Amino acid sequence: MILKKLMRGFGGNALKHYNEASDKMNSMAQEKQVVSKKRVADHGEVFTGKREVNVMLDLVKQETERIESRFLEPACGTGNFLAEVLERKLHVVETRYGKSQLEYERNAIVALSSLYGIDILEDNVMECRKRLSDIFDQKHTCLFKEKAKQECCHAARYILQKNIIWGDALDLKTADKHNKPIVFSEWSPVNGSMLKRRDFCFSHLLAHGKKTEDRSQLCFSDLGEDVFIPEPVKEYPLTHFLKVADAEK
Ligand SMILES: C[S@@+](CC[C@H](N)C(=O)[O-])C[C@H]1O[C@@H](n2cnc3c(N)ncnc32)[C@H](O)[C@@H]1O
Repeated sequence: MILKKLMRGFGGNALKHYNEASDKMNSMAQEKQVVSKKRVADHGEVFTGKREVNVMLDLVKQETERIESRFLEPACGTGNFLAEVLERKLHVVETRYGKSQLEYERNAIVALSSLYGIDILEDNVMECRKRLSDIFDQKHTCLFKEKAKQECCHAARYILQKNIIWGDALDLKTADKHNKPIVFSEWSPVNGSMLKRRDFCFSHLLAHGKKTEDRSQLCFSDLGEDVFIPEPVKEYPLTHFLKVADAEK
């Protein structure tokens, strides 16, 4: 208070700088990077600050603004990277398709479905899903007000349920009582409003990175490089993007 009064004496600019600095300090305090010493010791849980996240994402800026470009955050915490990528992608969707609700919704679902995460702590997974879902819902409601479709937000929540996985990124298994291999769903838009879902086993996708003796699954590109075409573990019928949850029934 006293400092503020003093600075007012130095003129408007000094006060403006003081206010900016104090806003920055407040937002840094709000942006909690450590929850507890125990979680740091047990799980290395130190969240990345927003500024660092954005500097790193800017290294692949073009990809963060490509609606269908897929991102996996293998120890996603509460989704600091995924949330920023979603904001960037939805901004592009709004700029390009904001005038048509159908086009916006289709592309917003494609943007959301391109984001994947794994975390070993269940509460982080829940928070990450909620955070991405809130970003999606808020943008949608803000754009279309009472015309915003509940169905679209439900579809988004269903996709997040599948894409943000409670699991161990080292042994590639789920961290629940079933302890099953992690499976990721690929969502591909087909003919405008339809989505094709295919499920892939995460360990199969990663096996390509290792030297494999089994060359039977490898194809070659025109340039003679190895091309790996993974086999899905499950395929679903084409489904309208607002009805993705129905394909499982
Ligand atoms: C350093 S924090 C990073 C979180 C987030 N990526 C960020 O940058 O804010 C590490 C995260 O990895 C998670 N984690 C630790 N071991 C893991 C494992 N084996 N598999 C998946 N997640 C793990 C922790 O729960 C924690 O959320």
